[in-house]
Amino acid sequence: APSPALQGRHVLVTAGGTREPLDPVRFLGNRSSGRQGTALAAAVAARGAQVTLVHAHVEQAVLDTLPGTVRVLEAGTAVDMERVVRQEARDADVVVMAAAVADMRPASVSATKLKKSLPQPEDGKPAGLTTVELVENPDILAGLVSDPPRPGQLLVGFAAETGDSHQDALAHGTAKARRKGAHLLAVNVVGESLGFGDVPNAVVVLDHQGHEVTRARGTKAQVAEALVDLVVQCLPAGGR
Ligand code: C5P
Repeated sequence: APSPALQGRHVLVTAGGTREPLDPVRFLGNRSSGRQGTALAAAVAARGAQVTLVHAHVEQAVLDTLPGTVRVLEAGTAVDMERVVRQEARDADVVVMAAAVADMRPASVSATKLKKSLPQPEDGKPAGLTTVELVENPDILAGLVSDPPRPGQLLVGFAAETGDSHQDALAHGTAKARRKGAHLLAVNVVGESLGFGDVPNAVVVLDHQGHEVTRARGTKAQVAEALVDLVVQCLPAGGR
């Protein structure tokens, strides 16, 4: 059912895992399925918001679950995603960063396929796939916090954490919530068959000080509904 607080609001959601190219056929990627972000985009659209989904790698079958009212844009790498998100966020009341954005990318992208072994070049340096030099990607969410494209917008992040115990993983999430400074950070403790892919999800939502706001558990659609409820509560009254 529509939520009055979301009527006419613009919500930007990111989903999926970025793929950072090494050469024309290889990339560094991650295990994000994009299902949670896609479920969020669908849930918030069903409540009456105008939704834009910016996605990195997400299977077509997952994207096909979106209602036709969601505007869908692709951004395959972290650098692409930063550009598209900063552009689109200028018009967004809420930004939910559910994408798994690679922290690092290969320092250079080979124009031709890298070879396992090449004749030793004269400088003696290996020319094949023995080492990959990485450089840091922009932190898109941190950039939205420090330099908001639209004043007053609500910023929501996700963090998949692992640890020796649930408590340990949650402690990483608490530190990240403080460091990133988003209004809300949904921490997903990976493991126990929770988290990635077509499985139930469980999140603990923290505020920017790392304090627990709420917990949600269930299918990705159920977790999405709980997060949309929270977004509705956190939106400043008044609309656009
Ligand atoms: O990868 P990490 O756990 O730091 O991700 C936490 C949040 O930060 C997520 O919402 C993710 O979308 C965002 N992020 C980002 N830019 C990055 C890395 C992560 O916006 N380079």
